[in-house]
Amino acid sequence: MRSVLDVNGEQHELDLRGAERLLDVLRDRLGLTGAKSACRQGECGACTVLVDQRPVLACVTPAAVVRGAVTTVEGVAEAAEPLRQAFADEGGFQCGFCTPGQIMRALALLAESSAEEIADGGTVRAALAGNVCRCTGYAGIVRALQRCAPNQDQEATDV
Ligand code: FES
Ligand code: FES
Repeated sequence: MRSVLDVNGEQHELDLRGAERLLDVLRDRLGLTGAKSACRQGECGACTVLVDQRPVLACVTPAAVVRGAVTTVEGVAEAAEPLRQAFADEGGFQCGFCTPGQIMRALALLAESSAEEIADGGTVRAALAGNVCRCTGYAGIVRALQRCAPNQDQEATDV
């Protein structure tokens, strides 16, 4: 089926096969290997990308049904730099295999949440529950997000 896929602001005209997964199209056809291929069953979150700014598991999403704008970790290199630095500073990754999915999930969470919600570690942990990380115990990941919370500095000086 001939389809047009909008990925990181570029239009790709593709002949999509049956239930071909979005993850495989991104990695194998477009060369965007940031989204990781791990469980391939929708259980680990390593393949998380955004579709119209909402997190989606690319391994269980047929590419042919995607209608919105797809954003991969390659497409947010600049926007995610403060978050990447916070992950590094706070020990938010060790092996790093889960990190692209964590970053994409975190960007969506930061975009839709208040500083108070991000400050609540339980809220952050709940949002990241679908992104499995075996290395870090999540504490560093939660701190990294909290460092990047919207208006955090402003609110801190307002107190
Ligand atoms: S590879 Fe997609 S959820 Fe694990
Ligand atoms: S940093 Fe190793 S699985 Fe997340």
